Amino acid sequence: MISRTSKAVEPQLYVYVDIRGEAVLAGMLALDDEGEQGFFAQFQYAQSYIDDPRAFALDPLNLPLTDARRTFQTESRYETLGAIFDAAPDAWGRNVMRVDRDGADVREDEVLLKGRGMGVGALFFSASVLTPNMRRVYRLPETSEIDTLAGLLADIDNGVKPKGLYRDLLGSSWDIGGARPKTIVRDDAGEMWIAKFPRARDSYDRQRVEFANLTMAREIGMTVPEVRLIDTPLGAVLMTRRFDRVQLASVAGDEPVVARRHFLSGAALISPSPRIGKRELDSARGRATFSYARLADVVRRISSHPVKDLQELYARMVLNVAVHNTDDHLKNVGFLKDETGFSYRLSPLFDVVTQEGSSKHYLHLGISGRESTFENALSEYRRFGLRTETAAQAIVDRVKKVVTQRRDYYAQARMPQQEIDRVEAALSAWRR
Ligand SMILES: Nc1ncnc2c1ncn2[C@@H]1O[C@H](COP(=O)(O)OP(=O)(O)OP(=O)(O)O)[C@@H](O)[C@H]1O
Ligand SMILES: [Mg+2]
Repeated sequence: MISRTSKAVEPQLYVYVDIRGEAVLAGMLALDDEGEQGFFAQFQYAQSYIDDPRAFALDPLNLPLTDARRTFQTESRYETLGAIFDAAPDAWGRNVMRVDRDGADVREDEVLLKGRGMGVGALFFSASVLTPNMRRVYRLPETSEIDTLAGLLADIDNGVKPKGLYRDLLGSSWDIGGARPKTIVRDDAGEMWIAKFPRARDSYDRQRVEFANLTMAREIGMTVPEVRLIDTPLGAVLMTRRFDRVQLASVAGDEPVVARRHFLSGAALISPSPRIGKRELDSARGRATFSYARLADVVRRISSHPVKDLQELYARMVLNVAVHNTDDHLKNVGFLKDETGFSYRLSPLFDVVTQEGSSKHYLHLGISGRESTFENALSEYRRFGLRTETAAQAIVDRVKKVVTQRRDYYAQARMPQQEIDRVEAALSAWRR
């Protein structure tokens, strides 16, 4: 069992969960990522949360809601406490914070406290107890400011601290996950979107390709958030409507309250050991942890609609083969808690981008491991609750039928011929 002296795990953070627009204290988090001992975190539920009839386990598989005396400990942001670190930024947000600090490292507790409650899901952090119903209102950039944002993010991406006032615009987004440049944007109706921006060194327009892939996914019948493309002088920006925010009806004259929905990544639920390194992905342990079949087991355990979710998970795996999205790591799969009860659904789809660099997927697909072929995707269909090969083949056929028409979707995404040729080259490079 992992344990450290209490002195070494000092910074204490209050972990809040949004329940129907109300901030409810869920527990305490102690963190230590300084010194030679590496990362260590410890979480305990608050007794008031355990006693609250509205309370739910922050992770039904790894953080059971049983006893406020129990401590959950980890040496990795992905193991055991992944539910909590899902609400924290990944590479991009940390990069913005670092550039803002003139290149200085930012401690993990500071990373969490710098967030303004815009991370994915319903959790957020505070250094002190919040007064009931205290609502901090932060400014969010609007769609009309997208050109300015593109410029600011391009600077940050090049390691340059932007001149002038930028913190207000970027500080309300630096807790959302992922590695690519992005911000949260509010539209005229007050709805929140995730905006993904171009990178100067991209070999093709990732935003247009993602738009086309997500549009094909919708046509196949998958659950996909609303998407839009906006042109800026630096390239296209992909807007995806946030699926983890709901506007509650406003009392006359009041600002509408935005409630957060609880989200869990596949990484949080599978809780991979940090001891399984990238080189071990193809070992038995790697396969048991990093696979679509393991995600299927998670669906069986937590979904309120397992048959539908298993079919969609299977179709997503097949689509990832068809469009060669090999960046299918466990944080690119998510689950949203049902608004009532304790079950989950597979979250709407996100981050489906054709990749150039790798022949293999991140996750295992079937008996040929991470190999990107339809044959491999068909080889273990039973683990997805599909009873016959004909049923699995029907899903593969449906995906292929739509993806064969991909040129129409690329045209809809306004991709010039040269770009289409590059994506086609990436698609055919790995086909056997
Ligand atoms: N429509 C959405 N609504 C709510 N949360 C979302 C939505 N789309 C993405 N997210 C969250 O934001 C994170 C980052 O988004 P996304 O995966 O698209 O970015 P990325 O930078 O391309 O990621 P990666 O690092 O995997 O390349 C996701 O892991 C997910 O937690
Ligand atoms: Mg991602």
